[in-house]
Amino acid sequence: MAPSDDDSNPKPSLPRLSRRDFFTGAGASALTATLVQSTAQAAASAPPVLGPDPSALSLTINGRAVTVQADPGTTLAELLRNHLGMTGTKIGCDRGACSACTVWLDGEVAASCMTLAFDARGRKVTTIEGLARGDELHPVQRAFVENDALQCGFCTPGMVMSCAALVERNPKCTLEDVKQAVSGHLCRCGTYPNVFKATLAAAKAGGKTKGNS
Ligand code: FES
Ligand code: FES
Repeated sequence: MAPSDDDSNPKPSLPRLSRRDFFTGAGASALTATLVQSTAQAAASAPPVLGPDPSALSLTINGRAVTVQADPGTTLAELLRNHLGMTGTKIGCDRGACSACTVWLDGEVAASCMTLAFDARGRKVTTIEGLARGDELHPVQRAFVENDALQCGFCTPGMVMSCAALVERNPKCTLEDVKQAVSGHLCRCGTYPNVFKATLAAAKAGGKTKGNS
C-alpha cells in the first residue's frame, strides 16, 4: 500500500542540523568535557589556600635552610628584616622605586619589597649578609671600600647586590653595563661616579666569586 500523504499522523518536527551545527555542537561538547576535566585537575593540583593566619614558609637564605611562620602578605624584605633580623637589606620606598631592598633570588637580582615572601618559597635567597665568605669580602664590596663608593650607606647594600650580580654575570662589563645595572638605584648622596669606578675595578680584578646562595 502506498504511503499516505495525509496529515492525520504528522511526524514530529526535528530541528534541521547542518554539518556546521553538528561539528560546532560536537566541538562544544568536547570542549565542555575537557574544561570540566581540566578544572577538576587544576583543583586537585592547586596549592593550598594561605591565610589569613600565618603559615609555615621554607626557603634557603645565604645557604641556610630556614622555616618561619609568616602572614601571606609579608614581603621578602619584611621577612628578612622583621622576622629574621637581617637588617642589611634596606627598605627605602617600599614600592619598587629605589632598589635599596635588592637581593638575589636564585641568582637574579630582585626587589625584595616587591616580592611576597611566599613567592620565594623553596628558592635560594642571597642577601648582603651572604655575599662575603667569612672575613673575605666579595670583590665588589672590597672595591666599594677602596673606591669610597658610599657615604651614608643606605643605598649601598642594594647597589652592591646589583653590581656584584653584574660582575659575576659579565666579568668584562663596561661603564655602560654598570650604569645600566644601577639605573634603578637611587642614591641621595650621589655616589654614582665612585660606584661605577668600584664596579669596574672589581671586574678588572677578576671579580667573580660566589655568594652563599
Ligand atoms: S624599598 Fe624596594 S624598591 Fe625601594
Ligand atoms: S650613600 Fe647615601 S643614599 Fe647612597
